Order: sequence, then structure tokens, then C-alpha cells
Amino acid sequence: MTQNFSSLLPINRLVVIGVGLIGGSLAQAARKAGVVKKVVGVGRNEVNLKRAVELGVIDEYTLNPATAVKNADLVFIATPVLGIENVLDQIRESLEARTIVTDAGSAKGIVVDALKRVFEEVPGNFVPGHPIAGSEKSGINAVDEMLYQQHKVILTPLPNTEPRALETVRQLWTAVGAQVLEMNVQQHDQILAATSHLPHLLAYSLVDTLAKQDENQEIFRYAAGGFRDFTRIASSDPTMWHDIFLANRQAVLSSLDKFSQGVAELRTALEQKDSKAMMGIFTRAKAARDHFTKLLAHRAYVESMTESDITFYAEAGQPLSGSIRVPGDKSISHRSIMLGAIAEGETEVSGFLEGEDSLATLQAFRDMGVVIEGPHQGKVKIYGVGRSGLKKSPGALYLGNSGTSMRLLAGLLSAQPFDVELTGDSSLSGRPMERVAKPLREMGAVIETQGGKPPMKIKGGSRLHGIHYKMPVASAQVKSSLLLAGLYAEGTTTVIEPAPTRDHTERMLAGFGYDVKVRQLSDMQREIRLEGGGKLKGSIIDIPADISSAAFFLVAASIVPGSDLTIEHVGINPTRIGIINILQQMGANIELLNKRIAGGEPVADLRVRYSRLKGIDIPQDQVPLAIDEFPVLFIAAACAEGTTVLKGAEELRVKESDRIQVMADGLEALSVNAKSTPDGMIIEGGAIQGGTVNSHGDHRIAMAFSIAALVAKNQVVIQNCANVATSFPDFVELANRVGMTIRIGKNS
Ligand code: S3P
Repeated sequence: MTQNFSSLLPINRLVVIGVGLIGGSLAQAARKAGVVKKVVGVGRNEVNLKRAVELGVIDEYTLNPATAVKNADLVFIATPVLGIENVLDQIRESLEARTIVTDAGSAKGIVVDALKRVFEEVPGNFVPGHPIAGSEKSGINAVDEMLYQQHKVILTPLPNTEPRALETVRQLWTAVGAQVLEMNVQQHDQILAATSHLPHLLAYSLVDTLAKQDENQEIFRYAAGGFRDFTRIASSDPTMWHDIFLANRQAVLSSLDKFSQGVAELRTALEQKDSKAMMGIFTRAKAARDHFTKLLAHRAYVESMTESDITFYAEAGQPLSGSIRVPGDKSISHRSIMLGAIAEGETEVSGFLEGEDSLATLQAFRDMGVVIEGPHQGKVKIYGVGRSGLKKSPGALYLGNSGTSMRLLAGLLSAQPFDVELTGDSSLSGRPMERVAKPLREMGAVIETQGGKPPMKIKGGSRLHGIHYKMPVASAQVKSSLLLAGLYAEGTTTVIEPAPTRDHTERMLAGFGYDVKVRQLSDMQREIRLEGGGKLKGSIIDIPADISSAAFFLVAASIVPGSDLTIEHVGINPTRIGIINILQQMGANIELLNKRIAGGEPVADLRVRYSRLKGIDIPQDQVPLAIDEFPVLFIAAACAEGTTVLKGAEELRVKESDRIQVMADGLEALSVNAKSTPDGMIIEGGAIQGGTVNSHGDHRIAMAFSIAALVAKNQVVIQNCANVATSFPDFVELANRVGMTIRIGKNS
């Protein structure tokens, strides 16, 4: 609608037909809000109407709808839904064309049909509506002026509904605290059948079934929490619900059929003691129930606040000491779910990162029908469905902030029999996807991007063939995406990387019994090769702590005099230890203790003590090995004596944010002499002042500036930090435990 209406309130004469909980509550709330001048109540029961006047809900009443609506500005029909047609019949003759009419019927198709019968066509001044509020109580004594606060009201306007009428009704509901939504009549009836009408039907049926049993006395005596919670709504008004079920009969029946099918599946699973099927239903339901508000908003499951909701206030801290364990490796966590899902048999994972990114991957596979238990304290159990067992998801797969999820899944899902769409948050929606889409198309996949960016639409039913691919950029995500597609391709898939990138996919494939050949072609170049068509066997995976998360503490303890900190069980895969190599070259004191192998990956405890750092030219060969750690390495450089120069890192411009620009801006805000270049940064070490920086929703930048605060002269305020939860949900708690001082606040 393009018209702009200023306030159409107050309403001079509001007529409420049916002064019960719904009608009375609107009248009272509107009076209280000062948006109506006079309220006239209409009903059949005079005692009730008198009581409504006594309670101050209405100013006056009449038993005759026809006389009441004369001269009315707005008529609100709040009778049981099956009574609406009768009311319309009675008011038809006396209704003036200027009078706006709306209703509260819980089904809208039937109201529109009634309007057509009574008026021939639905009048433009009629705005069908439905407040989603109410309670198991009813009648005038239940009236509550707060009933609509923070509740939704759905309006279902028709093409000929007058904009002025629609806007007046919208303003009235908004004035009493409701949130007004619009949808079409059919959509409304289907949604309400599933979310409201079906649960009421089931509650009535369950209580009635139990009440009929001989031992009902005993059953009700002992029926505590579960029964009470499940059946509260069986105390609702029977007449009203009788009407609603009949009014929305078709949609309720079709919801009931789907539900019956679900119950039948559960019954079979129970009868056959099929634990996997049972756990599948329960874990999917639990995840959906725990997070349904986020599902509604189409957000990642564990995202706790909106991107701009959290600010860190970080102060200089004490020397860091003690022994800590940081969360599980993000890259390995993603891969454990992906390979576990398409393996045969069960996979048991420990040390899983319960951060938003890896949980987005987990949820994506649940959406594709994989039964996954957990995560619970880092433990996850995946019931593999085999290479052909994934099912079409009910909607698009939402991957939040996670580039790894999207790029790897693009490969894995390129050869499934079903279509799939991959979407993400605003940061992910701006990241380049052609780097995987292009070679996957060469393999035979049919993939659409939006100008090279998400959403990615992948067509089902493509037959892939292996390719020989020389990657233009050193990217583990591209390599992994092609290898995962290669599992489904005919023939050999070969990927050549221009420089070593993290090799967790290759290692884990081997751990799942898949043959992967790796050949060193030169100092830098490596060839990775596999044959399509093989099977993966479920496995046990112990995920080490993430060196990318440990990096913040490696730098923190290096720059605060007196620090001596140990970070336990950290993955030190040679393709990930750029951070250690670079810091050591800068003069850091880091020891790798107790080296061992866990779950196919090398791990160690890292002991780090304060040391004076010096600026260096960062060696080119270390860049891909430290690609995620540059934000915090820039902080180390700012604390070092002399100049640090980074080149050949243009990749940083397309991470969760443009990490070169955002870091340069933040460093400048803290008075550090830092100059961005197209492919890197030049940083002069020196004093760090306090100030305010914006992390642009990039988790690693938020954490990096928290480390800078340790040695800053004044407080460092870091904005947009909610996404720290993508990789390190307990960062602040752990940081404060070892001597840092970070307070979490809301953005002002
Ligand atoms: C990752 C690979 C890297 C890294 C990302 C995780 C992975 O990206 O930056 O955080 O798990 O494969 P590129 O492969 O694009 O460099």
C-alpha cells in the first residue's frame, strides 16, 4: 500500500457485538488507550451487558444490533464465528457505507463466504480480522485490558478492501498493544488449523478419552505436570470451539490427517522398538520446540540476540595465568556431521563445537532427515543414512553466518536426487560462492547463485563426473566441496592446491575408511585425489580444541607482562599452525607440550608466556596456514616493536567481513598506526589508546579487539559482538576467568 495515513483515531462510536472476553477486552483496552470516545455493546444477555457497563467496559448497550450500528464509525463483531452470518443479516439494512466493520472470527474463509451470501460481494469497508489471543477463560468476567499486548492480530484483507478501512483497523489494534500482520484468507485458515485448532481438538480428545476410562478418578488424581500442560486448553469454551472446528473444517481435517500419520509412525516405531526412528522424532521435535521462535524468524538456532545487540566493554587486565580448554575445532565439527550423516552406521563425536556455525550444519542434516542426538556437553551421535539416504528438506537450508557450511554443502548436495536451496544471514549473503559453483558445474552440477552470491539453488538429479581442478585460490573450502561432490561423481576427482590448506576433510575421509590419495607436487603444491562411488563407515571422532580460538589467548598471554597460560588439547595440524610459527618468529614464547595424536589429528598443550614481540615481514607460505588468525595477529603486531608487513592476503577481504578494512578502521580508532593495502596491512607497533570500534558482526574481529584492550590505555568498546557465538560461545566467561576484564552490554 502506498497511501500514507496519519492517525485515523480516535473512533467516535465503536460498536462491539458480542461483549465477552474478546470483544470486551478490545473495548476496555481501547478506552484505556484513549482511542475511542463511546463504546456501545450489543448482546443477547442483558445481565451480562449490565455487568459490562458496571465494569466500565462499555458506555451503554442495546439488544438490537440494527439500531446499534446506525451512526457507528467502527463495528467489531466478536460473536462465535458461526454466529457472524446472522449478525450480518441483522445489520445489513442499517449499516452506513462509511462505517468500517471488522470481526474476530478464528476462521476467515467462512466469514468471507457469509459476507458474499449476505451482501453479494464482500463490501470494501469490511476488514476480516483475527486476534490470536484468548485464554481458556471466557465471558465478561474474564475481560482483560492487557489481553492484546504483544499478541498478534492477523488481518486478511481482500483485493477490494478499502485502504482507509484497513488502516483504521490496523491503528486500533496497534493502539491496544497488538502486532498486526496481514496474510490471505486461505493461508490464515491453514496456519490456524495447524497451530491452534488441531492442538485444541487433541486436548479435548485426550481428556475425554481418559475421562471415559473406568479408573478416571485415579488417573486424574495422579495426572501431574505433563497432563496439565498438554490439556490446559481442554477447559476452553466448548461452544466456541465447536463453531471454530466446523468453521474451518477442511483445513482442520487435513491437519488432523497429517497428525494421524505422524502418530501412526511413532506407534510403529514403538511397537517395533525402533529406537532410531523414535529418537529421530524426539530430537527433531525437541530442537524445533526449543527454538521455534528463531525458526519463525528464520534465524540460526542458537543465535541469542540480533547482530547489533551486544557490545563488549573491555579493560586492561591482569597477567593471564592458569590452564584452560577452548571449544572444539569449528572446521572439524562441521565435517564430523557431514561425513557422519552420509556414512553407514553410527558416528560418535566428542568435543563438538556448540557454536552457531557448526550447529547450523547439524540442523541442516536434521532437516534432511538425519537422526542426530545431542549436542550435549560436546557429545553428538549421528545415525548415518548412507550416501543415498538424505531426504529433501521441508524448506531452504538456513546456514546463518557459516561460509564453511554453505560451500561444503554445495558440493555434498550437488548430486542428490532432490532440489535444495542454501541461504544465510546478511554477511553470508554477501560472500562469493562462484568459487565452488563454477567447478561444481564443470562436474555436471546445476547450480544458480545470485550474481555469484547466496542463495544457492541446486537442482536435484544431476549426474556428476570427476574433474581435474587446479584451484586458483588456496581454499580448503573449495577443495573440500569438490572432494565431497567427488564422492558422488563417476571417475576420479583431482584437486590441486597452489599452497597447503587445512586438510581435515582428507584426514576425516580416511578415518571413515575412504581411500584418498595425497601427493606433494612441489614445495607448495599438493594434489588430492579420490574415486567416486565408495562408501563411508561410521566412526568415532575426538575433536581437539580449535587453534583459531586458542589464538586469542596465545596473543593475550604474549602481550601482557607476567602471563603464563596453558591451553590444553589444542589441534596442531601442520596446515593450521601458521599462528604459532608467525608468533614465534615475532619472538613469542610458546611451547608445544605433550604432543600426541587424537582422532587422526595431532594435538598438544600450548604453554605461552609473556615475551617482547618484534615486527616482521610475514612469510608468504604461512598466510594460508594462519588465514583465520590475522585479526588477532594484527593486534600482536600493534604491540610489537617495529613494523609488521602482511602481503598476499586478499582473501581476508571476503571473510565474514572485509577483515583488512574493518581491522584497519578499528586500529585507527585506537590510534594505532596501521595502513591497509589491497592484499594486506602495514602496522607500526606502539601504544594502543582506548576507543570505540565496530566489529561489523565479525566474531574474530570482536575477539581480537578484546585482546587489544588488555594493553590499551583506556577502555575499548567493541560493537556488534553477538556473532562471537558462531565460533566461541563462552569467550567472555573464559577470558574473564584467566584475568581479562570484559563486560557485556547492549548496544546503545
Ligand atoms: C575453512 C577454511 C578456510 C577458513 C574457514 C574454515 C574450512 O576458508 O578461513 O574459516 O573449514 O574449510 P578458505 O578455505 O576459504 O580459505
